[in-house]
Parts: sequence; structure tokens; C-alpha cells
Amino acid sequence: MAGGISTPALVSAVGEARALGFLAAGYLSADELRADIEELRALSTAPFGLNVFVPEEPSEPRRQLAVEYAEELGAWLGEAASKAGLGEPRYSDDEYDAKVAIALEVRPSLVSFTFGLPSDEVVVSLHDVGVPVAVTVTTAAEAEQAAARGVDAVVVQGWEAGGHRGSFLDDSDVEQPGLLSLLRLVAATTRLPMIAAGGIADGAAVAGVLAAGATAAMLGTAFMLTDEAGTSPVHRAAFSQGRASVVTRAYTGRRARGLDNELIRAMRAGAPSAYPEVHYLTSPMRAAARAGGDPERLHLWAGQCSALARQLPAGELVRQLDLETRTIREPHP
Ligand SMILES: Cc1cc2nc3c(=O)[nH]c(=O)nc-3n(C[C@H](O)[C@H](O)[C@H](O)COP(=O)(O)O)c2cc1C
Repeated sequence: MAGGISTPALVSAVGEARALGFLAAGYLSADELRADIEELRALSTAPFGLNVFVPEEPSEPRRQLAVEYAEELGAWLGEAASKAGLGEPRYSDDEYDAKVAIALEVRPSLVSFTFGLPSDEVVVSLHDVGVPVAVTVTTAAEAEQAAARGVDAVVVQGWEAGGHRGSFLDDSDVEQPGLLSLLRLVAATTRLPMIAAGGIADGAAVAGVLAAGATAAMLGTAFMLTDEAGTSPVHRAAFSQGRASVVTRAYTGRRARGLDNELIRAMRAGAPSAYPEVHYLTSPMRAAARAGGDPERLHLWAGQCSALARQLPAGELVRQLDLETRTIREPHP
């Protein structure tokens, strides 16, 4: 979970409890990523995964869309816009090549890519140093392409999932399959191991996705209230305010699921498909909203089961999930 939520302390606690925690490379500079890896290694020698964003190509029409959206958003923010400031709707490749080089050097137990497919060369170079590769898919067609690229597993991201959609083929506004449907659609398409993600918050759901053919379950939102997560106080508080979760482009130009708020409702019709430009446009506003404790301007990423997130140490959550899963999979007679 990029954006400061997956701290080295969280990845360490999860790894020490014998689940696989993921460091998030997204939005970090290569130097910041190196620092996070060093911090993690000082805390734990447990295996960990690394997650990397695959960048878009630069696009002037897309930048233009973001510039037009800046007008609309600025008009809605009014006074607040001049106080908090909107950023420049710029392009970045998120230092992709440098992050792949770090992965080759550090050799995490698994490198997962989202927002796109890594090239053949990147997949082969990771395999050459013994690192398996996973790619997030949101449709069966994406899983087919990932399989053709020679990856080792797919992260099957259901519509329930919190945070960004990992989609890379279909960027239209159509609703995508829920996790149970998607697992079976992907299983009918490829034989790759499936890591199920989206709305999983307890052992019953872990057991459910394993029964539906997944090899592993991946949980995001369920860890956001743990002690070690970097979730801000305003974001934590929003989990218990009865907000629905919705999918929106309003904050980054890429579809993402978060808790509903005033900004999302106001921008429902207007937000364009323009990632990463809209991400950079809204970054300063979001930083100010986080610092000022304003849940109506902050992006409150969360999946459909945020109401089930538990406040406890992350290692304890892993142990509870493990026990709950075993109780269902290995019932006593
Ligand atoms: C706050 C937040 C940040 C996320 N950041 C990333 C990320 O950096 N990379 C990624 O591949 N997925 C990211 N995701 C999506 C998760 O990998 C996963 O698909 C999702 O959390 C699963 O659904 P759940 O949140 O309902 O458990 C993020 C999700 C959340 C909630």
C-alpha cells in the first residue's frame, strides 16, 4: 500500500508472523525505497515482497485533460484551492527503471507489478536472479496477457478492492467482476497461481477464496488500522463514520476505491482518465487535507469491507486470520 501506509514496521510485523508483507515502491524516489528496504532489514530478516507501479507512456492529450480538470476542481475548491494549492499536472515514470534495478539487486521473495505488464526483459531479468514475478489483473483478458508474458502468478483484484484498480487493458467506466466471479473467470483462462485480493477481512473470506481456487489471499484494507500501518488519524477515523466505499477517478485520474466524501460527490461527473497527471495535480491539496484532518478533501482509500478492519498489532492480526482460516478448513469432527 503506497502512500505511506505500508511502513517497514508493518511489513516487518507481518513477515515475523509468517505472512508475506509487501513494501510499496509506488510514489517513492529510488533513494527513499532504498531507505525503506534498509529500515526493513534492520527490523527483520523475514521474507518480503516488493510492489512496483508500471508507468504509462507520456501523453499530451492526457495532460490536457488534467489541465481542464484542474479548472473544474479549482472552481469547486474555491478559497480552499488558493490556501492548499493544486499542483502541476505533470508526468512521471515513478523512477521505474531504478526500482527494477533495486529489485534485481535486493532480490525480494516476490515482485508484484500493478497498472501494467512488465516487459519480457524485466520478467526474464528477475527470473535470472531467481525472483518470481506477479502482476495484478482485474479481468480475465488481462490474466491471459499476463500469462503470455511469462509471469509466475496473478494478483486477481476483485471490484471490492480498496485503493487503485490495477487495470491495464480496459480503462472505460464499466464495473468489473467481483472477486469470486473473477477468480473463476481467470481460472478458466490460465493455470497460473492466483493471489486473491479485494474485500477480504477475516479468515472466513480467506477460506472462501482458497476454496474458489486461489493459492493465497492478499489483504490491504484489513491492515490499515493496525498499529504499524502509516494510516493517518483522519483516515483511521473515517473507517467508523458509516461512509460507503465508491470507485472514483477524482483524486488521481485512475480508478480507485475509497470512502465517499464531498470531493468525490462533487467531481463524480468530471474527473478524466488522466493518471499520473491528476495524481500530481491533487497531491498538495491531499497533503494539506491530511495535515489539517479534513476527510472531505483527503482520499480515503479503503475496500468494501473496511467496517471489518481491526485495531491491533499487525502480527496479532495475522495470527487471528490464520486461526480463523484453519477453523474453517480443518473443522474438528
Ligand atoms: C490504501 C491502499 C493503498 C494501496 N496501494 C497499492 C499499491 O501501492 N500497489 C498495489 O499493487 N496495490 C495497492 N493497493 C491495492 C491492494 O494491493 C489490494 O488490491 C487491495 O488492498 C485489496 O482489497 P482490500 O483493500 O479490500 O483488501 C492499495 C490498497 C489500499 C487500500
